[in-house]
Amino acid sequence: MPPKVFRAEEINAHVTETDLWFVYKGRVYDVTKFVDQHPGGMDTLLGVAGQDGTTDFDSVGHSDTAKEDLEKYYIGEIHPEDKDKLGVPKHEQKSSMNTVYIILAVIAILAYFIVKP
Ligand code: HEM
Repeated sequence: MPPKVFRAEEINAHVTETDLWFVYKGRVYDVTKFVDQHPGGMDTLLGVAGQDGTTDFDSVGHSDTAKEDLEKYYIGEIHPEDKDKLGVPKHEQKSSMNTVYIILAVIAILAYFIVKP
């Protein structure tokens, strides 16, 4: 049977912890049932939900067992025309912004105590 082909729009619609898809090397995975069991936590999966998680998945250096497990959740392929239409995870950007906010807050608190008469 030929694999099911999904458009980017459809993949983008599965982005919650009770309905979570992501793409790895052009293949689509429904990891909804795995969200609670992921040793790397729920947030990492939510971070790539509805997006292309290839770089993120590979950068963790997942074990061979993890790669085999991944195949349990395979549901089909992304439409060839839509491969570049998927969002790339923005969570790294967000977390570095959080660091900036924390540093600014610490500076503000220190400044308050230094300036205080
Ligand atoms: C179905 C998809 C996935 C499966 C089956 C899976 C499986 C696993 C497994 C079995 C581990 C334990 C360590 C190992 O055996 O490699 C793990 C750890 C981890 N995974 Fe995943 N993973 C998946 C998707 C992802 C994605 C998309 C990301 C990144 C966005 C991610 C990030 C992590 C992180 C950060 C750890 C923790 C590493 C550590 O603390 O040592 N995983 N994953």
